[in-house]
Amino acid sequence: MSSIELSIIVPTFKEVDNVQPLLDALDAALPGITFETIFVDDDSPDGTAARVKQLAQSRPNVRCLHRIGRRGLSSAAVEGILSSSAPFVAVIDGDMQHDERILPQMLDLLRRDQADVVVGSRYADGGSLGDWTKSRAVMSDIAGRLSRTILKGRDLKDPMSGYFMTRRPLFDQAVPHLSIEGFKILLDFIASSDARLRVAECPYQFRNRIHGESKLDSLVLWEYGILLLDKLVGHIVPPRFILFAFVGASGVAVHFALLSAMLSAGVAFLTAQSLATLAAMTTNYLLNDSLTYRDKRHRGLQWFKGLASFYLVCGLGALANVGIASALFRDDYTWWISAGAGVIVGTIFNYALTSLFTWRK
Ligand code: GDD
Ligand code: MN
Repeated sequence: MSSIELSIIVPTFKEVDNVQPLLDALDAALPGITFETIFVDDDSPDGTAARVKQLAQSRPNVRCLHRIGRRGLSSAAVEGILSSSAPFVAVIDGDMQHDERILPQMLDLLRRDQADVVVGSRYADGGSLGDWTKSRAVMSDIAGRLSRTILKGRDLKDPMSGYFMTRRPLFDQAVPHLSIEGFKILLDFIASSDARLRVAECPYQFRNRIHGESKLDSLVLWEYGILLLDKLVGHIVPPRFILFAFVGASGVAVHFALLSAMLSAGVAFLTAQSLATLAAMTTNYLLNDSLTYRDKRHRGLQWFKGLASFYLVCGLGALANVGIASALFRDDYTWWISAGAGVIVGTIFNYALTSLFTWRK
């Protein structure tokens, strides 16, 4: 048997009824090409992995990378590619929405060295969205515009595509620089690669789903925001720290608003200050839980456990803050430098410890 030229990576979550149709479609689309298909399944409750393994019994070029306790389209694509030794790799959705019939054309561009990455494109001439809802099309358009900030001036018509083919060694080089969060593996790859990477697009018409349903939800949008932040400023500060600090600033606003309201209503200072502190810590917890750590959100009783640990850590953080500030103030630094240093140390302390104790996985 000749060696495999192309590995096709298929991330799946709950796609059981799409496995067989996809394998048949790939066989029909790639006659004469030696390829393998690697499903990367996150232990789908519908038994997708079992279906793949069963079909692999009679198809030696099919295997399943079965991940337990994990989720994520990007990380699935990355691990699938890392498991390949073929010169070319492609990533395609497992739900038949990406048209597999353009794969030979994509491979041809790479073989003839016309490009380093070939993108299956819904927006290039001849491509289309299928019958996407208006709101999804608008969202995709906005997301695409935002992505230009990290594309290093490249003019890519469909940067949000999840369908592409590339040279495996090029991808391997980019892996240590990837953000990996979320859905947008192609964007991540291009933004993490050398500016000389040559990108070509092949148009196709996005098909409608027949089996199963889309996994795109608010968490996917959130992950996209984190990816953009990470690519823009991640080399200086972690994106989550930025969110954490913004939430902290909102807490200061809550604190002062409540404090002044209570003071003018005649509440004693100590009582007002304590209540305002408690309220600000609570809104900070709420916001961090649904924004900064949206992917690790607490549910049910866990929410209260999380809140308790957040109070505890922030209480210690406040002690650190006051300790540093008063030490500096004693050493004759002006009040605002002392206070500023206290706030910075307290924020970093809270960020580090809550990431360990409140939102650990
Ligand atoms: N392993 C794994 N883990 N696979 C996943 C996960 C996950 O957590 N979430 C989704 N998938 C798989 C799905 O099973 C499917 O094969 C593929 O990733 C795409 O998921 P969909 O939920 O169908 O996404 P979509 O159709 O809304 O959007 C897709 O197509 C767009 C156009 O190319 C994605 O690929 C988008 O990134 C892309 O912009
Ligand atoms: Mn889909």
